[in-house]
Amino acid sequence: MSKIHFSYRKEVPVEMHKVKIVQKLTLLPAKERLQKMKEAGFNTFGIHNGDIFMDMLTDSGVNAMSDNMQAAMLRADDAYAGSETFYRMNDKLTEIFGIEHLLPAHQGRACEHIIAQYLVKPGSTVIMNYHFTTSKAHVTRLGGKVEELVIDEGLKVSSTCPFKGNIDLNKVKACVEKEGAENIAYLRLEAGTNLIGGQPISYANMKEATEYAKSLGIPTILDASLLQDNLYFIKTREESMKDKSIREITRMIADLFDIIYFSARKFGFGRGGGILVRDDSMYTEMEDYITMFEGFLTYGGMSVKEMEALIIGFEETMDFDTIAHGPSFINYCVNELVDLGVPMITPAGGLGAHIDAKSFVDHIKAEEYPAGSLVAALYLCGGIRGMERGTLSEERNPDGSERIASVEMVRLALPRRVFTLSQIEYVIDRVKWLYDHRHMIGGLRFVHEPKTLRFFTGKLEPVSDWPEKLIEAYIKDFGEDQ
Ligand code: F0G
Repeated sequence: MSKIHFSYRKEVPVEMHKVKIVQKLTLLPAKERLQKMKEAGFNTFGIHNGDIFMDMLTDSGVNAMSDNMQAAMLRADDAYAGSETFYRMNDKLTEIFGIEHLLPAHQGRACEHIIAQYLVKPGSTVIMNYHFTTSKAHVTRLGGKVEELVIDEGLKVSSTCPFKGNIDLNKVKACVEKEGAENIAYLRLEAGTNLIGGQPISYANMKEATEYAKSLGIPTILDASLLQDNLYFIKTREESMKDKSIREITRMIADLFDIIYFSARKFGFGRGGGILVRDDSMYTEMEDYITMFEGFLTYGGMSVKEMEALIIGFEETMDFDTIAHGPSFINYCVNELVDLGVPMITPAGGLGAHIDAKSFVDHIKAEEYPAGSLVAALYLCGGIRGMERGTLSEERNPDGSERIASVEMVRLALPRRVFTLSQIEYVIDRVKWLYDHRHMIGGLRFVHEPKTLRFFTGKLEPVSDWPEKLIEAYIKDFGEDQ
């Protein structure tokens, strides 16, 4: 839903910004893309950015800054200790969230490291609606375990549920009874739940879950990295909230939590991270970890220029027109593809459009990585780089067998304020072409398989000559130079 509606033309979402600085893109000829894919070991993480036409790998650290953000960078106050920029940033966040203390960190996972270091003990449990890779890794590294208690609907690929990121309170109560409240390190709710397709949590659900946790003395933590998308969905999908401003909704959410942390690579359109802490003694105890792992307390590993830009970025996040751009473009992309018969994760969420790869290439065995194969095919047929979010991103079971992912997705991220609608139309066109030629896509197998996080640096090869045949068919339809 965007603010502007049409009377004569088909309804499309409209950008409420204009382009001021551009970066030239190149679309390599099809055969050269095949060569690049081979050199990258059929892993899209290995491709140079200059060889990519549409980089939809992530929305992290690649969002477009505004003119005001860039202008603000010039007045950053460079100081190892006591930078005025830090105090301005702290004040802005306190104004928005109503929480006094800010601990700065270099990115989101650094915040997770520090929170886990402070609260997780061996044997303790962290309750989440759903994990994010790094948020889970920090808990398990310290001997804790994660319980993911999202509602059942959250894991259904096709649904009409407006808040698939909601946590199931009955499951939470059963978990607390089983583990004992004293063994629960914290309740972590992730806004805009990333790994189930950027799906939001409702305000009502956050309230219910945090009130229950508080009644038992369990600390409540919000991962606000994707809060901007979640705010948009609360305003547009939660009936009781539709007349509230984004600023009011943000404050109501913030009031529910003891700690709020974020990756500023997503939240605030910049790069960096931060932990907001309500309680004085919690803050004092966590301070030491910042100076030990991140940097001094007034920069925490961030560049002060980025911090100064973020102050403006946080304020822009309170503007409905600004935060509507991502979700309304994603909604357009998902709905058009659904109309063309392509299996997508529905309803559309934030962050990006998510393809249900399991259905898309249902002829590829789980062990030959359906989402990994599809993501490679998308680069071959259009120069589009997405991210595999399926079995390839899992680690093997201790006996060496594959751990088959519960949801096998390809994520096409939409960095905020970056792409125009014609570029999204191009992506829709190529995804549909690929869907019509899906039986030509074959599987992949590892030739170099790292033990941890294999999806980042692993090298694979196709199980047959399917990439050559696919490129031939593509050239027949679009010509050599596309
Ligand atoms: N929490 C959520 C919900 C995230 O999506 C991410 C990062 C992090 C924490 C960690 O933040 O990258 O700044 O250390 N998500 C990126 C992505 C990596 O591509 O989805 P970080």
